[in-house]
Amino acid sequence: MKIFLDTADLVEIRWAVDANLIDGITTNPSLLSKAAGEAGDPRDILAEICRTVEGPVSAEVVATTTEEMLREGRDLAKIAENIVIKVPLTEEGLHACRRFRSEGIKVNVTLCFSPTQALFAAKAGATFVSPFVGRVDDVAGDGMELVRQILEIYDNYEYETEVLVASVRHPRHMVEAALMGADIATIPPKVLHQLLEHPLTEKGLDAFLADWAKLPKERRAI
Ligand code: G3P
Repeated sequence: MKIFLDTADLVEIRWAVDANLIDGITTNPSLLSKAAGEAGDPRDILAEICRTVEGPVSAEVVATTTEEMLREGRDLAKIAENIVIKVPLTEEGLHACRRFRSEGIKVNVTLCFSPTQALFAAKAGATFVSPFVGRVDDVAGDGMELVRQILEIYDNYEYETEVLVASVRHPRHMVEAALMGADIATIPPKVLHQLLEHPLTEKGLDAFLADWAKLPKERRAI
């Protein structure tokens, strides 16, 4: 399973890359706007992310018409070879997806909330489809059931579009995505840290260190 980090925070990205924990990055306009703050240039941030991470880096268009998405996406694709253009799962977005793919540009179709939307993303040739599991849960739906249905449909018809589980809010989403065989989960830094922590690891380490400290100092030097 591939793990992407869902952030534009370069400190978190460098930390995760140094430990070889992640295979790619997803950003969106909200994340880039936050990382850019008052004075930063989102394009510079994307370029630095692409230099830091070898894998795919999703950069989202903010246009809403197909022609504007194409213009914006082609421009974003020039930033680096590992840029993947993110388009919304709208009729305009699917038209843009088809055109980008015919030009050899990889596409992440985002804001997917139903299995049939995902079916059409695959038919449009999407490289990745991003079901937003947390936001489905937010409206009393079942985000992970959506992922299960998409995986089954893609399996039935052997679509090559990879299922990229997004809007991951807690470790349980990640566990279920892995058990279902989702291709990728993109997780915020907070969830990555939560996944690495375990109270029994902390407790066990404290006990080992306490026992070790009982040895006379001169025999502790290993
Ligand atoms: O990748 C999409 C993701 O960032 C959305 O997450 O928590 O804002 O629903 P969230």
